[in-house]
Amino acid sequence: MGEKESKKWVLMATARSPTNIAVIKYWGKRDETLILPVNDSISVTLDPSHLSATTTVAVSPSFDRDRMWLNGKEILLSGGRYQSCLREIRRRAEDVKDEERGICIKREDWEGLHVHIASFNNFPTAAGLASSAAGFACLVFALAKLMNVKEETTELSSVARQGSGSACRSLYGGFVKWAMGNKEDGSDSIAVQLANETHWEDLVILIAVVSSRQKETSSTTGMRESVETSSLLQYRSQVVVPRRLIQMEEAIKKRDFPSFAKLTCADSNQFHAVCLDTSPPIFYMNDTSHRHVQLCFLVHRTSYTYDAGPNAVLIAPNRKVAHLLLQRMLFYFPPPSEKELDSYVLGDTSILQEAGLHSRKDIEALLPPAEVKTNAPPQKYTGDINYFICTRLGGGPVLLSGDDQALLNAETGLPK
Ligand code: DP6
Repeated sequence: MGEKESKKWVLMATARSPTNIAVIKYWGKRDETLILPVNDSISVTLDPSHLSATTTVAVSPSFDRDRMWLNGKEILLSGGRYQSCLREIRRRAEDVKDEERGICIKREDWEGLHVHIASFNNFPTAAGLASSAAGFACLVFALAKLMNVKEETTELSSVARQGSGSACRSLYGGFVKWAMGNKEDGSDSIAVQLANETHWEDLVILIAVVSSRQKETSSTTGMRESVETSSLLQYRSQVVVPRRLIQMEEAIKKRDFPSFAKLTCADSNQFHAVCLDTSPPIFYMNDTSHRHVQLCFLVHRTSYTYDAGPNAVLIAPNRKVAHLLLQRMLFYFPPPSEKELDSYVLGDTSILQEAGLHSRKDIEALLPPAEVKTNAPPQKYTGDINYFICTRLGGGPVLLSGDDQALLNAETGLPK
């Protein structure tokens, strides 16, 4: 194949990866570069049809450098985390052959070939919904497919971990544990699946995306400061989490919702207590978050968890409880006048229909919940919520076939 001919081809792979929410939190690193945590964590993977990243990776001899576009905008790939993922995947790359198209890449060629990456989140990146977890998991998964990496998913999780800690848990669906490991090189700090997404199908997840003007401390910075200053973090990682982990695995295995909910809430509370115990203290939850916690206690057996921001992730044991929860949430946090219900409650809206909520009028007609005792009109918090997402547990990363799903042009390797 002549030099000119060989420059023509572009080889691509496109994947979609879910995001995840921790029910036993990761907070604190023992190694900042390798991203090794101070404790194990457990998460649930969320349905990718509502929250996921889609990533296309392409290789071509005509590319002169590695480039990346995130949600349509070119970003620098010089950051250490991207470089770690690219290096680790290239190191594991194998031969790739496509005789029809005259493509033959030897494993040793990958070092000299450049990639183009385009990634897109189907939810707002700024909403504080673990976009980096879905993004890095998807990047690693797609690169591994492109470069014919043969390693198991667990091995890939240790690469994704070096992009963002929580990303390692997004390589599996269902319930996932990130074992902290104890080796210095991090090779045993990997994610494993505890149960797949069909294990506990009754669970319903409701996310309240809180309108927040405040710029929060990033997880990376926040946890570094907690490691440096919080003694509660030490007690948590050494004493509380090891015990809780065993109980949580047991609760998941038995589908024991009361235990699952108790542990989830307690762990979220403790993570935020560690944040308060940090100097200077970090405040991720706000008044709206606190109101949601109170409501969860009023709606029978609902669990809540909060990451590094004010958004609530509420988990109901079944659809019946989810209806009650949604009705209560919408009673106190109705859509602002300019918003229709279909842009206020997103995701699996069948829950809304089942709860008898078809329009704004149905929400206005909701009767005050039992806790509203006085005759005065109950306090409502219109505008405090941006939108809700109804979702459920979901599966791990998948490869998307066909050029029409790709974010890069099959001929040029540039964003479509
Ligand atoms: C509160 O994974 O975003 O969401 O490893 O520095 O990229 P880095 O941090 P990140 O932290 C997530 C923290 C958390 C809890 C969790 O997901 O376990």
